[in-house]
Amino acid sequence: MPLKDRRVIVTAGPTREWLDPVRFISNPSSGRMGIALADRASEVAGKTVLIHGPINSDLVTDKDYRSVGIESTADLLAAVKGELRDGAVLIMAAAPADYTPAKKSDVKIKKKGGNLSLELARTPDILKEVSRMAAEGEIRDLFLVGFAAETTDIEQYAMKKLNEKNLDMICLNDVSRKGVGFGSDTNIITIFKRGGGRVSLEMMAKHDAAERILAEIQLELSGR
Ligand code: PMT
Repeated sequence: MPLKDRRVIVTAGPTREWLDPVRFISNPSSGRMGIALADRASEVAGKTVLIHGPINSDLVTDKDYRSVGIESTADLLAAVKGELRDGAVLIMAAAPADYTPAKKSDVKIKKKGGNLSLELARTPDILKEVSRMAAEGEIRDLFLVGFAAETTDIEQYAMKKLNEKNLDMICLNDVSRKGVGFGSDTNIITIFKRGGGRVSLEMMAKHDAAERILAEIQLELSGR
């Protein structure tokens, strides 16, 4: 099935893992990369759904696709599962927190003398869970795209994620570089495909990078 007949689900932005009513663990993802992908998908795909963490709401007003807001990584997994259909393309540009406080306090944790240690528990790995669903036949004909936000040994880690999460494609950004990754309007992406293809993009606006990524997805799907 070509991209124009497929549902594209794009995730964007950070997640928030609350420690108590006034503090949370998160990261500086603005949602811009995911929104750029959803904008482009809405021009070339059958249907587009954006699932985003807490971001500036101005960024998602007046769009001609549906967007769903979530907070935590567990919420994101539930929302992704709720939107998945046979034949869907899932693009995980969100930056979900990998850890959540093991205990959440209902009341503000008061300061005391000395340090405070936090115990953190792993959040669900959304791409791994969706890959498992695909492998076990719960959902058919998925096309899975991950992102890799790396600062060291960037290609090795991206390839590891491509293989371990059983993805069709991964978009690597070296987030230690200026103008790349979190919060910027630009990005430098290297696309690695299942089976060995590689496409290196120079620095460009996230909207242009999104157009190139969607074109590569379209190309891969034309062979299916
Ligand atoms: O939002 P912007 O400010 O525009 O910034 C864009 C970006 C830097 C957030 C984006 O380009 C990006 O790299 N997103 C992925 C960030 C990330 O979480 O990377 P990771 O290497 O930790 O995770 C690898 C992949 O697994 C990602 O596709 C991620 O969405 C996914 N993941 C991560 C954690 C988790 N619990 N489940 C997942 O599925």
